[in-house]
Amino acid sequence: MKKRVLVLHGPNLNLLGLREPEIYGNFKLEDIDRELNQLAGELELELRVVQTNHEGELVEAIQKAREWANVIIINPAAYTHTSVAIPDALKAVGLPAIEVHLSNVYAREEFRHRSYLAGVVRGRILGFGPDSYYLALRAAQTLLSK
Ligand code: DQA
Repeated sequence: MKKRVLVLHGPNLNLLGLREPEIYGNFKLEDIDRELNQLAGELELELRVVQTNHEGELVEAIQKAREWANVIIINPAAYTHTSVAIPDALKAVGLPAIEVHLSNVYAREEFRHRSYLAGVVRGRILGFGPDSYYLALRAAQTLLSK
């Protein structure tokens, strides 16, 4: 059976393309999702993608992932720096998770230097734009093949 990966995009990532293009680039979230789906096919992984602007919906998606996913890839966006509920949910479900950011948060404002997820995820990939997601999917496959 194919291994299953859940990709979670947090708040404001639905506005990629419009949003601060000097930081986030000109591509849209649909472009990333299309490439992710294509790569998942090549890697023989099953993929589900969810975008939400709400912290509680991210928590619920993580809780539900228990019944479906083998790995979670998550870009919690601004909630990275504020949320305790999201790392708590990841700890509760116990699935391996990979944290992703498009930008290098350490080259930006100081409040972005703290991630509440950093201690509960398997690893973190950041600063490579959309490639951060594709690298994360490859990392997920490596994790799952072990
Ligand atoms: C982000 C970085 C966060 O600091 C920011 O709030 C985002 C996007 C990134 O992908 O670079 O919304 O997670």
